[in-house]
Amino acid sequence: MAVLYVPSTNLVGRGCLQELTPFIEDLGFKKALVVTDRYLNDCGIVAKVTDQLTQAKVDFVIFDQVKPNPTTKNVHDGVDVFKKENCDFIVSIGGGSPQDAAKGIGLVVTNGGDVREFEGVNQTNKKSIPTVAVNTTAGTSAEYTINYVITDEEREVKMVMVDKNSLVTISVNDPELMLDKPKDLTAATGMDALTHAIEAIVTPGAYGITDATALAAVEKIFKYLPRAVEDGQDIEAREQMTYVMFLAGVAFNNAGLGYVHAMAHQLGGVYDLPHGVCNAMLLPIVERENAKRDPKKFPAIAKAIGLDVEGKSAEEAADEVIRAITDLSNKVGIPAKLSELGVEEVDLDKLAENAMKDACAPGNPFIPTKEEVIAMFKEIL
Ligand SMILES: [Fe+2]
Repeated sequence: MAVLYVPSTNLVGRGCLQELTPFIEDLGFKKALVVTDRYLNDCGIVAKVTDQLTQAKVDFVIFDQVKPNPTTKNVHDGVDVFKKENCDFIVSIGGGSPQDAAKGIGLVVTNGGDVREFEGVNQTNKKSIPTVAVNTTAGTSAEYTINYVITDEEREVKMVMVDKNSLVTISVNDPELMLDKPKDLTAATGMDALTHAIEAIVTPGAYGITDATALAAVEKIFKYLPRAVEDGQDIEAREQMTYVMFLAGVAFNNAGLGYVHAMAHQLGGVYDLPHGVCNAMLLPIVERENAKRDPKKFPAIAKAIGLDVEGKSAEEAADEVIRAITDLSNKVGIPAKLSELGVEEVDLDKLAENAMKDACAPGNPFIPTKEEVIAMFKEIL
């Protein structure tokens, strides 16, 4: 049996934020905890969303303390504000970090306890506080998924939670909120979406619906990500990338991920590096190892990219896919070496050990040994 998790209401496309008011009114809540970060509050994006709350005659309080790679402290501080201010729902505004923090906040409010107790798969009993998730970057799909990641600062570990109770009530993806995003953020989040799509295709958890949406996402990413990075004001490219997020989000939310994410989470946890950059660097390395063992999904990926693999073997198609991924990474400005980002060889043993315990690891088509994980890290050190 396949189970498909998607939020029940999803607003997507140019200008859709301006249509949010009646949906907020329908929810019937009185006061929102707005979960976001300082930058989005200062640059005026938060005000565009709270205008919709005001029009719906809903009160709100802003919690803008979420850090990139949100922490357990962010979650518990947010819970304190939610309770103190007598909020009854959440509006999350941002890319992956505010969305992930909001999921943790919503689940701690309804389930009690400490967010550290929720690490792993379906560790809560009650649904999250209802949440309206307004996305501002094209990549993480955090507004669609049942996954979230919180950094435990004490253990220097990114805890991965997969929890059906974290699904939001309404998602909003308006490309007009993404126009001013800088090139490096656009590139990193776009490559994160590509990683979601490809890991969702090669995982044994893939099935007909997830293959269809993931392959459609791959096609659009190769076509529109370079345009969105080159010219942030290219509204068509930005809009197509919002569709990508939905397509890739449906795929990995329901098929699962693999070792690219399992390894990238550790780099993010220890060195506080951008998630999408870590994924982009690891994607060709892990997929080459996956293809060595089972290349059968790679001809379809090659065709989605637009590569001519007619008459070529699955192994040859895989080689071409991996080359195309590396070329795309270079084109959008992803760094080539982890050492450029401060990663040190002395840490690889611990990184590999924690990658093997990551919730995404079992989704990979093969389970590497610790030595094989270290070897993959070393290839891009
Ligand atoms: Fe990701």
